[in-house]
Amino acid sequence: MIPAPDFPPFYPPRRILMGPGPSDVYPEVLAAQAKPTIGHLDPLFIGMMDELRSLLQYAFQTNNPMTLAVSAPGSAGMETCFVNLLEPGDSVIVCRNGVFGERMRQNVERCGATAIVLDFPWGEPVDPTAVEQALKQHPEAHFLAFVHAETSTGALSDAKSLCALAQQYDCLSIVDAVTSLGGVELRVDEWGIDAIYSGSQKCLSCVPGLSPVSFSPRAVERMQNRSRPVQSWFLDQSLVMGYWSGEGKRSYHHTAPVNALYALHESLRLLAKEGLEQAWQRHAAMHQELKAGLEALGLTFVVDEDHRLPQLNTVWIPSGVDDAAIRSRLLQDYNLEIGAGLGDLAGKAWRIGLMGYGAKRENSALCLKALADVLK
Ligand SMILES: Cc1ncc(COP(=O)(O)O)c(C=O)c1O
Repeated sequence: MIPAPDFPPFYPPRRILMGPGPSDVYPEVLAAQAKPTIGHLDPLFIGMMDELRSLLQYAFQTNNPMTLAVSAPGSAGMETCFVNLLEPGDSVIVCRNGVFGERMRQNVERCGATAIVLDFPWGEPVDPTAVEQALKQHPEAHFLAFVHAETSTGALSDAKSLCALAQQYDCLSIVDAVTSLGGVELRVDEWGIDAIYSGSQKCLSCVPGLSPVSFSPRAVERMQNRSRPVQSWFLDQSLVMGYWSGEGKRSYHHTAPVNALYALHESLRLLAKEGLEQAWQRHAAMHQELKAGLEALGLTFVVDEDHRLPQLNTVWIPSGVDDAAIRSRLLQDYNLEIGAGLGDLAGKAWRIGLMGYGAKRENSALCLKALADVLK
């Protein structure tokens, strides 16, 4: 027998999460998650899932019937979009201006499709002019994939113009909205987005581990006309939909993460109660306050003001400052987490999140006070 380990229960400290995600979770959401678990085919649970779909449709601003939460984090939402839409031999224009654009490329190639990669400098948005040129040069491409809010750099791309181009050149758009949903303007139907995925742990301030996704009727038609089954059984939407929207009768696909879905329901309910546009405005206003304070400390932003994400403030680490030592002092002395740089920005930048419940004055004030102290 392997001896039984004898550990005390795990009590996490109460941190203030101002990194690139997970963000601070609403107390109401944590409480919702602690409610009694019921069966995932219980009629009451199914009623809750119907509400959840309406709430997701509101957050995405879409009437797409195929709108649901994948039972896994944002990366699974990303994979859901690619594996359901692509088949070997397809060509995809992939815009890469940070870590997550590169992950899109990897997904495309793992589907046996060809990625036509357009590179943009880190910290800059995707340039629609360059995308249009590529669309003209590559009539064989039937998809355009890009990241709306690049969490590795803090840059916001113009999803509306990019999706309009995709439509003009008869491509389906695949959009990463992991960090944008709930934090900045995003209108799936109005902008003509075909496939979109997000994450529960950013501006929705829900617990991590769920990925809202939505597919337009054009995308659904493409899935229905596939010549071969989706290579992933778990992510195959034609099977998952039997559970999320079986006409009057839901069939078992996998055991839903019941309590995590209570949490998502509550976080989206809070978003709807605040109002989407009000939430976008709150993120913008809090960014302005934080920005003024960071600049007063002598810190400068990686991204130009016009393309900056309000919910993710990326600033250069001043020369001579020990990145890891500063972040660890913030954690120890102030219980405050800010994000390290990722990819090309590792060791060079900090990523300071103002996401969802965390986009509030007291967080930005604490962060400025703590940074002023530790940078002294
Ligand atoms: C833009 C973007 N895409 C995808 C992901 C992957 O999401 P997850 O870590 O939830 O799998 C992240 C995570 O930070 C992200 O920021």
